[in-house]
Amino acid sequence: MIQRTLSILKPDATDRNITGEINGMIEAAGFRIIAQKRVLITLDQARKFYEVHKERPFYDDLCAFLSSAPTVVQVLEKENAINDYRTLMGATNPASADEGTIRKRFAPSIDKNSVHGSDSPENAAIEIKFFFSETEIVG
Ligand code: CMP
Repeated sequence: MIQRTLSILKPDATDRNITGEINGMIEAAGFRIIAQKRVLITLDQARKFYEVHKERPFYDDLCAFLSSAPTVVQVLEKENAINDYRTLMGATNPASADEGTIRKRFAPSIDKNSVHGSDSPENAAIEIKFFFSETEIVG
């Protein structure tokens, strides 16, 4: 089934000017980037976006990091996009990420893990709506 997933290239990626290299890996893996914009996420937006993690001890640091510098938010489309993008990203902790994944290649730590991807069809729909209107998505 063709699916859409929400991807974020996080502040550690924009900071090191590697968003193009990451997009190269995304496109080489067969995803189409059907919407994309560079945004400075506010602290309030970050807290809302990561609300599911609000009881976790790392929540405040996570939200501060996501709003600390520009991000690139994007909608990726592909057969089985949600799971396939999670595979391409690699494990949340880059120390455990497989060879050939974005996090293995680029992520310095679990906090600064370069990319975010939706974890389910329900969350993909919510997260895409969080950043994009329908007219901004050109499939
Ligand atoms: P992400 O996929 O964007 O979703 C939540 C983020 O929390 C995760 O990537 C990590 O960058 C961050 N995080 C920090 N510490 C942890 C942890 N111990 N377990 C899971 N996620 C963590």
